[in-house]
Order: sequence, then C-alpha cells, then structure tokens
Amino acid sequence: MSIFVTGGAGYIGSHTVLELLRERYNVVVIDNFVNSSRACVERVKNLAGRDFTFYEGDVRDKALLAKIFTTHNIDCVIHFAGLKAVGESISIPLSYYDNNLNSTLALCQAMNKYGVKRIIFSSSATVYSGDNEMPLRETSKTGDCSCPYGWTKYMCEQILRDASFANKDWSVVLLRYFNPLGADKSGDIGEDPSGIPNNLVPYIAQAAIGRREFLPLYGGDYPTPDGTCIRDYIHVADLASGHMAAIRYCESHTGAKEFNLGTGKGTSVLEMISSFENATGVKINYKIMDRRPGDLPVSYADPSLAKKELGWSAQKSIINMCADTWRWQKQNPHGFN
Ligand code: NAD
Ligand code: UFG
Repeated sequence: MSIFVTGGAGYIGSHTVLELLRERYNVVVIDNFVNSSRACVERVKNLAGRDFTFYEGDVRDKALLAKIFTTHNIDCVIHFAGLKAVGESISIPLSYYDNNLNSTLALCQAMNKYGVKRIIFSSSATVYSGDNEMPLRETSKTGDCSCPYGWTKYMCEQILRDASFANKDWSVVLLRYFNPLGADKSGDIGEDPSGIPNNLVPYIAQAAIGRREFLPLYGGDYPTPDGTCIRDYIHVADLASGHMAAIRYCESHTGAKEFNLGTGKGTSVLEMISSFENATGVKINYKIMDRRPGDLPVSYADPSLAKKELGWSAQKSIINMCADTWRWQKQNPHGFN
C-alpha cells in the first residue's frame, strides 16, 4: 500500500514517515524545505533501513502533483505540509492563507482527477473557540480562531468536509493535534525550530543546552492552580501511531470525521519545567513575563472518541516526552545542521 506524505521532512511528518516505513508501507514524500532540512530525510532513511521516494517541491505545484499521482499508485494521502507559527500568521496572514488553503485545494483536485479517495489531514486544537468548557470534545464549538493560522485549519477542514460530501466514496480523517513534543528514541530526529523557538518545550530544551539564557514564561497570573497556562502535551511518536490508526480507519469508512489526538491530561508551564528538570537533571532558569497575546488559560482534549473509533490512545508520559526531547537536543545541539 502506498502513502503519499506532504510535509514529510517536517517534525511530525518525519516521525510519521519513519513509523510508516517500519510498518512496511511504501512511502512517497513531498516537501519544499520551507521549514525543514534535507538532512532529516536522510536520517529517516537510515533509521528505517529502507528507502522511499522523495520529491523536493511545493504542494501547490499542480504539474508536480500530476507527475506524482501518475507515477505512483497512491492509496492514501497524509497532508502535513503547511505553515504553522501562530505569531507569524498574524504578521503575514496572506502567506498563510495562500500556502495552507491552496496546497489543500491542489491536493483535493489532484485526488479527484487521479481517483485517490483517502486523506488524513493535520488539523489542530486551534480550530476550537476560546469559550468552550474543558475538556474539548470533537463536538465543542469551533471558529472564532485566535489567529489566521487557526482559521486556515478551520477552513481546510471545511474544504475537506465539502469534498467528501460531493464524493461519497471519499474517506477524510481530520486529526486535531494538541501540543506535540518529544522525539524518536534514537535521538537522531526531532523538532528543529528555525530562529527563536515559539513553542514551550523547544525553548526549554534550548535553555537547558545553553543556547538561551532563560525561558521567558508568558503569564503567571492565569486563573489556574499555579497561575500558568495548562496544555495537553502529546509525544510525537504517539501522534505518528495515531496516523497508522487513521489509515486503517479510512479503509473501512467513508465521509469525513474529526478526532482529537491528545492525552486528556493538562500540564501547566511550571509543571512542564519541573518535569523537564526531573527527566534531565538540568536546572531551567525562567523569568515570568507578561501574558502572550492570544494564549488561552487552559486547553486539553477529551481523546475518548479516538480510542473508541480508531482504537488509539496515547501511551507516553510527560517524563518520556522530556527525556526524548533532551536526548535529541543533546545529540544535536544545533539541530540538523
Ligand atoms: P513542520 O513545519 O515541522 O512541518 C511542515 C512541513 O511542511 C515542513 O517540512 C515544510 O517544509 C513543509 N511545507 C510547508 N508548506 C509546504 C508546501 N507548500 N509544499 C511543500 N512542503 C511544504 O510542522 P509540524 O510541527 O511537523 O506540523 C505538521 C502539520 O501539523 C502542520 O500542518 C501543522 O499546522 C500541524 N500541526 C502542528 C502542531 C504543532 O504544534 N507542531 C499542532 C497542531 C497541528
Ligand atoms: N510559553 C512560554 N514561553 C515560551 C513559549 C511558550 O511561557 O517561550 C507558554 C505559552 O505562553 C503557553 C504554553 O507555554 O502558555 C504553551 O505554548 P506553546 O506555544 O508551546 O503552545 P500553544 O498551545 O500556544 O500552541 C501550540 C502550537 C499550535 C498548535 C497548538 C495545538 O503552536 O500550532 O499548540 O494545541 F495548534
């Protein structure tokens, strides 16, 4: 069975490609390296001990998609490619709408033309509105997104729902990821943010290795038990295995379906700092700063639908996530390059 993975050189994509290769799928990847590196592709091949076909290019390039869909007998698409930085999406919204919407549209059009009927889409907890009760269920209110990035995910979900409504034999799985972290246990691949990290744990890891003087902790006065924001952190390997479950689900279901991929457990920023310290033995310096605009005090999933329908649940603990992040960071203090 052949799986076409867009954005397969990126953080979640590379871990999923590795899992697909380990599960003996044929894999075809496209990535334009806008936020990733060629070295990652080579490391995935070495780790898996297997090769796969890689195309350097843009998912919006319809001629390239035509070439890929006519060269390979694709059974299922996993669409990771996209821009994902919340703050950047506020400064350059048109680039976000162009990249994230037009790549999804080009893919759907190519699927239609070449008879591919299954797609798994990387959605996000950012599609949920800020005024929901916790935990977030798939039926919780969506929209009122806090940034253009969130709106692109909301709109892509709708494009895919409409496409599956018009094509009754399509199977669309919308995976709403919560906060991924961790790395493959080899320490050979992991998250390699360019510039100053936007996300908490990559920042903590760079502070631990000495690349950052201290962690800016955004907001210590939230209405939570310790005053810091609570999130649902999930190991990237658990996310990868969620995609294996989604591929199996597509084989026996049509229509479009949303699933939360989270653990269901909330962890505060201060709890994450102390877990990282416990897992690694390294002290993290932090300074409490003003709140970061757009942050919700609390966000965590109800992952029970994924357990019931996909037969999937997250297995790895926060300590596993911290230890694996640290192994990657120590072995690769400056990332892939
Ligand atoms: P990432 O930036 O590491 O990976 C995305 C990959 O897509 C990169 O390798 C990038 O070079 C590539 N890409 C982007 N636009 C492209 C295009 N037009 N054509 C070809 N390649 C393109 O990000 P990630 O963390 O691995 O996220 C993967 C997906 O999951 C994204 O769609 C993201 O929005 C979504 N997501 C991520 C998170 C998170 O916190 N990491 C949370 C929820 C959802
Ligand atoms: N934080 C800090 N200091 C930092 C970075 C983050 O204190 O240097 C805090 C934030 O203020 C927030 C918490 O750590 O309270 C988590 O922030 P992240 O940026 O790690 O994660 P977010 O929940 O804001 O968003 C992430 C991704 C989105 C994705 C979402 C899914 O950035 O793309 O998770 O839930 F959609």
